[in-house]
Amino acid sequence: MCGIVGYVGPQQAQGVVIEGLRRLEYRGYDSAGIALVHDEQLVTDKRAGKLANLEKALAEQPLPASTTGIGHTRWATHGAPTDRNAHPHLGRDGRVAVIHNGIIENFAELRAELESAGHEMRSDTDTEVAAHLLEQEVEDGADLTTAMQRVCRRLTGAFTLVAVDAAEPDRVVAARRNSPLVVGLGDGENFLGSDVAAFIEHTREALELGQDQVVTLTRDGVAVSTFEGEAAEGKPYHVDWDLSAAEKGGFDWFMRKEIFEQPHAVADALLGRRDADGKLQLDEVRMSVDELRSIDKIIIVGCGTAFYAGLVAKYAIEHWTRIPCEVELSHEFRYRDPILTRTTLVVAISQSGETADTLMAIRHAREQHSKVLAICNTNGSTIPRESDAVIYTHAGPEIGVASTKGFTTQLIANYLLGLYLAQVRGSMFGDEIAKVTTELEGMPAAVQRVLDGADELYALAGRMRDARSVLFLGRHAGYPVALEGALKLKELAYLHAEGFAAGELKHGPIALIEPGLPVFCVVPPQGRDFLHDKMVSAIQEIRARGARTIVLAEEDDESVAAYADEMLRLPRVSTLLQPLLAVLPLQLFACELATQLGHDVDQPRNLAKSVTVE
Ligand code: F6R
Repeated sequence: MCGIVGYVGPQQAQGVVIEGLRRLEYRGYDSAGIALVHDEQLVTDKRAGKLANLEKALAEQPLPASTTGIGHTRWATHGAPTDRNAHPHLGRDGRVAVIHNGIIENFAELRAELESAGHEMRSDTDTEVAAHLLEQEVEDGADLTTAMQRVCRRLTGAFTLVAVDAAEPDRVVAARRNSPLVVGLGDGENFLGSDVAAFIEHTREALELGQDQVVTLTRDGVAVSTFEGEAAEGKPYHVDWDLSAAEKGGFDWFMRKEIFEQPHAVADALLGRRDADGKLQLDEVRMSVDELRSIDKIIIVGCGTAFYAGLVAKYAIEHWTRIPCEVELSHEFRYRDPILTRTTLVVAISQSGETADTLMAIRHAREQHSKVLAICNTNGSTIPRESDAVIYTHAGPEIGVASTKGFTTQLIANYLLGLYLAQVRGSMFGDEIAKVTTELEGMPAAVQRVLDGADELYALAGRMRDARSVLFLGRHAGYPVALEGALKLKELAYLHAEGFAAGELKHGPIALIEPGLPVFCVVPPQGRDFLHDKMVSAIQEIRARGARTIVLAEEDDESVAAYADEMLRLPRVSTLLQPLLAVLPLQLFACELATQLGHDVDQPRNLAKSVTVE
């Protein structure tokens, strides 16, 4: 949601800023703009629609040379996605330009104050008030850093603000509260980005900023301060992936590339988790054994795909640890007065680490003195920084808007957490834990085997191009997989798709079944598992009513073949780990169907990768 880029250094800022915006396109946006400082004046251009529109305009009417600039891709909140509402916004006299991510909640009151003082607003945005306020401060004699500190003290809500002042050419000043911003540290040049992808081709050295901090960038330095004007420090870190990870590498979509990266991603998520004696070690979990032993309730929070990973985790964590485990959408959890105590562990799952709903949920949990453990993919992001403990998923950057390797590595992290808690609390024997861990270590190869069958899914997508509605059924740990399969299809193919627990069918949803309706059915592993037979019965029931069944079952499961119109085979694994494999055909199917329907798979309509507003 909104991409932000800032640059000061010897290079032509326009190129650096536009390239940075391109790398942030995946976040989702509906207009783009740029401001450069040239000869003690600001020059800007901003256009509704894709970045290509802005680039075309810049090619037709180039902006003058400049080595200081800011750029923005906007995901509309206040005001329609038009040229006029696109960022940057200027102060009254055009001396200060501002870009913004987030929502300034008290903008109406500030706008009224400015208008009564004679300021005329040129947009419908909340952002414009910040431009006017900043400009007023610098015109009254403050430098841009001081102006930013003063203005931020007046704002409520969530914001990253980045500003340039025509009178201070080699300087970019930014501030953050509840919204992402990272500094890129170069040699004689410095960068700002909503995330490191914005500057990864220039530097892999980054600086994490704290909450309510202002940062001032010049060519030779980066100075951090608080909103109160006191000196502060950012936290430097090295980005452990490079430019190639932020490029498509020969694939048509980032999403497809990320699907095929899953064998590696899953292996990386598992790397280094056992000590020399084969026992699990989770060094990143900065909680003492006593604290872990005292936990008497777990609440997992997340949104969308991360929430579904949490639903899978519940089956595994409760089974292995015998600790009651609830799973809740972050935004529902936050506003329902949940029962939280010092012995409740809240597990926050977030690929981006910036989802505002989840961030607010963990803040609430910590205010109630519960411990928060984040499962996150993005180093330096806000959610792990504000948590008591973290397990990083090490999936590498996920750029396709639809989460794929984010999900499977979140599953791994949750499995590891469950097993680690079982080890610490003695709820499983050592050899039982070792058996599951060894099975987990075999998952990268199993994931690869499923992906090797991609052509079958592509052919299936070709046969289902006319589908108008698709259902997904699962039971037990396969139920969240059904929900995730439906979500992927909704967001990518814009099709009506719904996931159900198979046991719930007869309580209503079976009325939806009509001849030819495609239904994906995730069949639990065979063997002693009674779930399997119940799922097979459910498939028979819908088949009898004319559904077109697409059945995902173990490779040697013949019991279900007679009721399957299409059969998709999965390697044999235990019930709790099956979601890791069963989700893969559903990812491939959604990606391919959306491609065949001509949709933009990496940037589906209306969606943003990082949902940084509540
Ligand atoms: C769906 C998807 C979203 C995210 C959700 C949470 O494919 O990607 O549903 O899972 O917005 O995002 P994070 O994990 O970044 O908190």
